[in-house]
Amino acid sequence: MKNASPMATWPEVAADSPFSLDNETAYRRWRDAKLHAYPTTAEELVVEIKDPRKLTAAEAQAMVRICRKTNMVLYVSPLGGLEDKALARALGEQFGLHRLDSNLLADDDGITSLQVVAGKSQRGYIPYSNRRLLWHTDGYYNAPEARIRAFVLHCVSPAAEGGENRLLDHEIVYILLRDARPDYIRALMQPDAMTIPANTESGEETRVASIGPVFSVDAAGNLHMRYTARTRSIEWKQDAATREAVRFLEDLLAGDSPYIFRHRMAAGQGLVCNNVLHNRTAFTDDVDKSIARLVYRARYYDRIRGTNLNEVFTPSPSLPRRGGEGVGKEP
Ligand SMILES: [Fe+2]
Repeated sequence: MKNASPMATWPEVAADSPFSLDNETAYRRWRDAKLHAYPTTAEELVVEIKDPRKLTAAEAQAMVRICRKTNMVLYVSPLGGLEDKALARALGEQFGLHRLDSNLLADDDGITSLQVVAGKSQRGYIPYSNRRLLWHTDGYYNAPEARIRAFVLHCVSPAAEGGENRLLDHEIVYILLRDARPDYIRALMQPDAMTIPANTESGEETRVASIGPVFSVDAAGNLHMRYTARTRSIEWKQDAATREAVRFLEDLLAGDSPYIFRHRMAAGQGLVCNNVLHNRTAFTDDVDKSIARLVYRARYYDRIRGTNLNEVFTPSPSLPRRGGEGVGKEP
């Protein structure tokens, strides 16, 4: 198992895909459409809803509309404090999210309760600690057939302090890198760009090594990103192109790009997204006042319904050219 090569299973990029480095025309059309009227504040991503378990048609439409542009949407609901894990599952189902990932840490129902749990945090499971989480996409160690395409976060209760998220659409990252230097994309699409060594907690192998690209395109033509800013337990391909691309990406994530959204989820708020890049600041609970952060997380192999590339983007030469809106250089 450990020596199985997962590299061959990452699909090729189709010639007519905007993500093909050989198709500048398709890329330009997709890029310009993508950047046209792209939101600049987290507030623009927020939809007010009454009940995440039972969205009205108008609420669901408003949420999908935002996801089609940014791959993510934030919601505000009056259900703060409600401890009901079924809420996360019911919310996801309304977006066509059904195939839950049951990872090592998920509870039996496939939904993870993110909160400080002393025993687990001490064993090095950061999701159960109050420490900061570096930039990543979820499931970056998963095999290609278990790619996490979407996840849902629902905040039951925020921390006393901290616990803010930053969010960055991975399609925007692709654009920023490709506009800077197409070779960055070439490097990060190599099937052996990023290796996560096997997880050998207490000497036992609980997860095989994961070798794959940062950017890949799935069978439906959608862009997927596999990334972690961790420096331990990760091995980058040792060639100059990969090193330079990773450095550029690190600088981008450490900077103040206008495409990076900041949001601290309050009680009853949440996020539905196509596994965009995200991080989280450290937080502190106040045990004396019974203030403790509790967030439900559900991860899916599915992508949000209505957000596939061919549903969002129709290549057409008659599209208005709207390039240069804040990123990259014009040709
Ligand atoms: Fe995450």
